[in-house]
Amino acid sequence: MKILPHAPHGVRGTLVLPGDKSVTHRALIFGALATGTTVLTGISLGEDCLTTLAILDNFQIQLQRSLDTVRIIGRPLQAWRPRKTVLNFNNSGTAVRLFMGLLASGAWTLKLLGDASLTQRPMQRVAEPLRQLGAKIMTTEQHLPVVMTGQNLTGTKVVLPIASAQVKSAVILAALHAQGATTIVEKWPTRNHTELLLEQFGGRIKTASDQKTITIWPKTVLQAQELVIPGDLSAAAFWLTAAVIVPHSQLKLKHVGLNPTRSGFLRVLQQMGANLTVQRQTRTGEIVGDLLIQSSQLTAIQLTASQIPSIIDELPLVALLAAYAEGTSTITGAQELHYKETDRIQTVAQELQKLGVKIQTQPDGWLIQGSTDWQWNHEPLDSHGDHRLAMMLSIAVLNLPTGIPLANERSVAISYPQFWQDLNTIIGV
Ligand code: S3P
Repeated sequence: MKILPHAPHGVRGTLVLPGDKSVTHRALIFGALATGTTVLTGISLGEDCLTTLAILDNFQIQLQRSLDTVRIIGRPLQAWRPRKTVLNFNNSGTAVRLFMGLLASGAWTLKLLGDASLTQRPMQRVAEPLRQLGAKIMTTEQHLPVVMTGQNLTGTKVVLPIASAQVKSAVILAALHAQGATTIVEKWPTRNHTELLLEQFGGRIKTASDQKTITIWPKTVLQAQELVIPGDLSAAAFWLTAAVIVPHSQLKLKHVGLNPTRSGFLRVLQQMGANLTVQRQTRTGEIVGDLLIQSSQLTAIQLTASQIPSIIDELPLVALLAAYAEGTSTITGAQELHYKETDRIQTVAQELQKLGVKIQTQPDGWLIQGSTDWQWNHEPLDSHGDHRLAMMLSIAVLNLPTGIPLANERSVAISYPQFWQDLNTIIGV
């Protein structure tokens, strides 16, 4: 249990964010597949990305890590040899789904496991499209444990019924090792880090002008790269929210990934009236830039299905912003939140209600009435083991009197091990 701090004098200063979690997973995988030595600087050291490192180590990929820099001597998938055939993905949905796609070909039978939370998350959504390429994957009632035997895959057209970058990326990784081209049709465009990185590592992939149709040609030999991982916008989003809602605040966040398929949160902030400026934008593969933000008056927002994928991980923070905004906000088309580290439609509402927020759950989102009249009901807050919930709740209490406890606070280490230090820095502790 952690007693959460408050921020009576505002949040101020400059932060450099941890490396983007989504980009780190993918860059580690492509580095492990590429011939030569890949050097990645600024990787995420969250537990999820350490899981991906451990899985690659199990396939005897040479990895040398020094703080947040890693050197990888990769080799084509055909040369990968597993030490153990039981792979534990702990809490990482992204890692398990990316590897289900990658490991669908190869001369092995593998068993994939995860922790209690990951074991409750749906895996059929990945297994089914991969089977269309010829993968042999057995789920346990559509969940982990999964047993898979590598097959010769054949490229095909795959229409994905759920907008999920994890599923799309799994199919891309399988398609790289298939015979013939594969075309993926997405329901809505989702984050395109896999596509951008694959091009950088020398793969052949094309996204049509509708942004939803992606063609991949097989390529088993990739070329090593030297890359700097952008700062994680999903981590930056906690500090952006803190600065906006806490009076007398001003923050600068440096070298943040601004990929438009991922940065719907910035558009939402601007639409709600936040005082946000983007500076020094540059692009090498991913777009990065610095963000300047100040305390702001917010107005309510209405979000619908097509906007959800670019903001999916930030929706708990949108709920918090809406709770401070003038008017009633509605978030719809966000049923995917049921399948995250917790059922976030439920857990976000349940925990914010403890603070007196007027939030009602809907089957696919929330209805939130903004107010300044917050009253903690003296029940301890609980992250339910969900890293993004732990961090959102610790931002939610910054304007309240100190002394509010948070259970299961350690979950922040999944994506942001430095979170408590960075929080202390900006509140001036
Ligand atoms: C991720 C995609 C999203 C997101 C997750 C990371 C990724 O999941 O929620 O935290 O790295 O591809 P879905 O694509 O399943 O929505």
